[in-house]
Amino acid sequence: MRLATPPGFATEVFILEGPARDLLPEGAWTLVGDRCLREAWLAAGMPEPGHALWVSVPEKDKKLSAVLPWLEHWASVPLHRDLTVVALGGGVLTDLTGLAASLYLRGVPWQVWPTTLLAMADAALGGKTGADLAAGKNLVGAFHPPRRLVACTSFLAGLPPRHLQNGRWELIKTALIQGELAWAEEMLQDGPVKIAWVERALAFKAGVVHRDPREAGERRLLNLGHTLGHALEAASGYQLLHGEAVGLGLLGACFLAEEEGLKHLPPALLGLMAGRLAPLVSLVAPWPACLPLLERDKKSKRSNGHTEATPATEIYCILPRPGESAVQRALPPKAWETSHARLLSMLHQETDRA
Ligand code: GLY
Repeated sequence: MRLATPPGFATEVFILEGPARDLLPEGAWTLVGDRCLREAWLAAGMPEPGHALWVSVPEKDKKLSAVLPWLEHWASVPLHRDLTVVALGGGVLTDLTGLAASLYLRGVPWQVWPTTLLAMADAALGGKTGADLAAGKNLVGAFHPPRRLVACTSFLAGLPPRHLQNGRWELIKTALIQGELAWAEEMLQDGPVKIAWVERALAFKAGVVHRDPREAGERRLLNLGHTLGHALEAASGYQLLHGEAVGLGLLGACFLAEEEGLKHLPPALLGLMAGRLAPLVSLVAPWPACLPLLERDKKSKRSNGHTEATPATEIYCILPRPGESAVQRALPPKAWETSHARLLSMLHQETDRA
C-alpha cells in the first residue's frame, strides 16, 4: 500500500509484504545493499543492477571513510547524473548511502528500502543522511530526502529477536512524543510487532518532517530519548544497539520530566519500560562516562566565549507529557545526573525483582 503523505511531500512511501520490481527506478540505477540480503533479494526475483555494491558496515564504521570507495567506484564506471541509487539495508547502510547519493556529482536521486524495524520506523524517512565523527554520532551529513521509501515487511522475518525489539523503541518514542500512552503501553507488551504501528509512526513522522524538514523547531521532538541515548550508546562502545540506547534515553527523559515538575507518567508505564530495559543494565555506562558525551552533543549550550573545554551550562532535552505533545527544555547537567541515577536504580530494582 502507498501511505498517504502530505501534498508535495518529497518521498513516496510504500509498505509492502515483499519486494516489488515495479517500485524500482525507471531509468538508470545502481544499488548499495547489505551483503547479508543479497540472497533474499535475488530469491524474491529482484534484479541486480550493474555495478551493485554488496557491503557490510557495522555501526562502529559509520564513517565518511566507508563512503569514499563507493563514490570512487561510481566515478570509475562512470555513472552519470541520471542515476538513481537504491539503498537496501538497515539504518547505518541507508544513512551512509543517502549521504553518498547527496555527494556524488553534487547530488543524485535515491530510493531507500529499509530492511530493519529501526530503519523502517524512523531512520529511512525524513531525508537525514549522515556519518559519525570521532566527536560524536551523525555529526556530518546532509538533508537529502529519498524519492521513494519501500518498506518490505518480509525482511523483518529474518531479523534476530534482539533487533526487532531494538526497532520497537523508535515506535514507542513516537507514541510518547504525542503523549499517546495507551499506544505506548500496547507496544510495550509482549507479542509481535504490528505493521499498523509502523504505518502510524511513518504517517506521524511524514507530517512532522514536512512541516519542519530542517529541524528548526517541531522536528526536534523526534529526538526524544536520543540525547542520553546517543551518549549511552557511544559509552557502551556500541554494545548497546541504537534502539536499546534510545529506550534507556526515553526512560531517562521520563525522569527528567518529573524533575522539571511536569505531570508524571504513570508508574505502570515506567515499570513496563524498565522491565524491558532491565536486561541491559550492565551496559549502562556510569555518569562520569556519559557527561562529556552529553556536553559534546549538537544540542548542548555553553556560556559565551566558550572553548571546547568549557563545560556545557545546559543540555537540551525533549520531555514527554501524558496526553499532550512532548516539549523541549534546556536543563543543567545536574538534572541529567539525577535522571541517570534514577534510571540505574530502577533498572537494578527490576533486575532484583526478576
Ligand atoms: N531520527 C530523527 C529525525 O529524523 O529527525
